[in-house]
This record gives sequence, structure tokens and C-alpha cells, in this order.
Amino acid sequence: MTGKKVDLYGVVGHPVGHSRSPLIHRLFAEQTGQRMDYVPIDAAPGQFLEALAEFRRRGGQGLNVTLPYKGDAYRFATRLTSRSEAAEAVNTLCWRDKEVLGDNTDGAGLVTDLTANLGFALTNSRVLLLGAGGAARGAIAPLLAHSPAELVIANRTVSRAHDLAKRFSVMGPVSATGFGDLLGVFDLIINSTSASLAGEIPPLPATTVSSKTLCYDMMYQKGPTTFLTWAGMQGATIIADGTGMLVEQAAESFFLWRGVRPDTGPVLREIRRRLS
Ligand code: ATR
Repeated sequence: MTGKKVDLYGVVGHPVGHSRSPLIHRLFAEQTGQRMDYVPIDAAPGQFLEALAEFRRRGGQGLNVTLPYKGDAYRFATRLTSRSEAAEAVNTLCWRDKEVLGDNTDGAGLVTDLTANLGFALTNSRVLLLGAGGAARGAIAPLLAHSPAELVIANRTVSRAHDLAKRFSVMGPVSATGFGDLLGVFDLIINSTSASLAGEIPPLPATTVSSKTLCYDMMYQKGPTTFLTWAGMQGATIIADGTGMLVEQAAESFFLWRGVRPDTGPVLREIRRRLS
């Protein structure tokens, strides 16, 4: 007799070698006593569907999806949650009965990090979202659900910001502008652009930041990102990178798959310790 099969999960992307998700989910599984494996799957360009088929042949039950396949996963899912529909992107797949459920836990992860971990009161706050790509699109509905006074989207290509503002305007007070036209101080500035990757910062006026502004970068790396370094130089005293968002979106995926909500605090501390 063989023992009970261990349930299989994973993360698919290209590249995935740098992904912290296998470690995060291993820590969640240990903490909650869930018997599961979680493997990284590097799918070469054009090989996404083959990678999924192979994963299913191995008995896989759920996947996280990272760059560049969140759009492919969105099209692949046979059923979508409303938040993945709003984001037009899927970061979590779950095979259930005869369906493939597509969810997007990124925005929820961001909002949980902001409100629960960082203690930020989103309601009635003035929020600036930098960027209008996929990462921004996933954040807008979850942010608006907390009734900020205003959500301004600023982007280098202003038309993309306008498209997003128009699309989400039924959900709350959202507007769009270019970086140079930003006026006044914000309570929260979220950088969703990939500018930090190139060591660049979006050219926003220093007057948008005060010592009380929470400056948040969805990116994370060893040490502060370019945007957070800039924010500190403008006098911001409350800064956070995307490590908390990463752990919280993982917890949402874990909950979807296993029906158990892990305690993210110790896992976040462990990931931060390893990144420091
Ligand atoms: P993602 O899915 O990570 O959001 P994306 O859809 O390619 O990736 O979007 C990248 C975002 O970063 C966009 O808002 C992009 O601005 P444009 O729409 O004008 O291209 C923004 N971005 C990338 N590099 C930037 C830079 N150096 N300065 C400012 N914005 C930048």
C-alpha cells in the first residue's frame, strides 16, 4: 500500500527561478499542517498550455501564474471570479470538478497589506496610483471598494490612464492625469510601474509627498527600491515595498485552494529576514 498522495500546486512563469512563492507556500503548509507540494514551473515562450497539460498529468490541482502569463491564464480559465474579470488577468488557477477557476488575488493582497499590516485607513484617503499597466488594473477595484476620497491614476502614456479611469468610474471617484499635472499632497502613493526595474522613477512632483504620505512600491528587492529611495529623499517617513503584498496574495491563493487561512505575520517576517 502506498501512502496518501501529496496534493500538488505550483507557480508557472518565465522566468520563475527567482520566485519566493515556493518558500512562502511551504511555510504556509507547515504552519497549517497541509500535506502539499509546491513546485516552480518555467514555461518557455509559447509553452504555457503545454506546461499546464504536463502539470495536470502529474495530478496538479492549483497554480499561481506570474509574468508573462497572467493574460494567458485569464483566457484559459473556464470560470472567472469578479475580481479577475475586473483585472483582466489571472494569478491563481484552481481545477475543480470539470472547471478551471481563474482568480486574481493580487489586488486583495495589496489592500490587506495596506490596511491590516501597515494600518493605513483607505476610506476617505487621497490615493495616487502610478502606472496604468496590468499591475495597476488589478489594484483599482479592490482600492475603490474601500471608498477612498479620490483615486488618481498617473501614467507616462496618459491615454492608458484615461482608459482605466473610464473603465472603473462606475466603481468610485477615479480620475487620470500625466505625472507633470499632479496637484496637492496624497495620503498614499502606490508605484505600480516597472520603472524601478530600470532604476528609474516616474517624474512626479515632489509636492505630492509629505512626511505623512505612505509611499508604497509593488516591487520588492534586497534593500529599498529606486522609488522608495526617492520618496525618502522627499521627506516620506512611511515607506513599504511589495513584500507584504506578495505574502498576502499568496495567502489568498492558499485559502482558495485549501480552505485554510494561514497566519501571514511569521511568514512575512521570514521572507523579509531572507531579503535583508
Ligand atoms: P505590468 O503588468 O507590470 O503593470 P505593463 O503592463 O508593461 O506591466 O505596464 C508597465 C507600467 O510601467 C506602465 O504604466 C508603464 O508606462 P507606459 O504605459 O507609459 O508604458 C510604466 N513604466 C515602465 N517604465 C517606466 C518608466 N521608466 N517611467 C515611468 N513609467 C514607466
